[in-house]
Amino acid sequence: MNPKGKVITIDIEDKTAETRKLDIAQKLITFVIGSSTDPKIVSEITERVKGKKAIVILDSNHTKDHVLKEMENYWGLVNVGSYLIVQDSDINGHPVFKHHGPGPMEAIDAFLPSHPNFQIDAERERLIFTTNPRGYLKRIQ
Ligand SMILES: C[S@@+](CC[C@H](N)C(=O)[O-])C[C@H]1O[C@@H](n2cnc3c(N)ncnc32)[C@H](O)[C@@H]1O
Repeated sequence: MNPKGKVITIDIEDKTAETRKLDIAQKLITFVIGSSTDPKIVSEITERVKGKKAIVILDSNHTKDHVLKEMENYWGLVNVGSYLIVQDSDINGHPVFKHHGPGPMEAIDAFLPSHPNFQIDAERERLIFTTNPRGYLKRIQ
């Protein structure tokens, strides 16, 4: 949608060999290999995004603790009016994978009370089916 937009991806495993060959990947994507919650990676991403508009999409390790750490580390990159998107909040019985254990939905519940500058944007779930229920967090201030 924005031809000047860029994607920065983070993954703890390097699975990028094929994707890196694509022209579009070479033009638009920066691949960062490491843990999304490693302080060095957080600083690198923060530096790269400084002064730019950003959407943050979380889709790595789906345990509550990890997702909550990611939310705490990256929410500051999200501009007012933009989104922190927490993926796969449907697991741990919301309504799938009942036995997963606390995951993204529980991280959202833990994050929101102390971050009133974000609110769930239910409009993003208007097509009814989503794997990210309550996961579209809009920064409102
Ligand atoms: C559900 S997959 C999603 C991958 C990608 N977002 C996609 O949509 O294709 C989860 C990914 O998170 C990566 N991962 C697991 N723990 C991680 C961590 N601590 N930091 C960064 N990535 C991690 C895994 O290697 C895996 O590739």
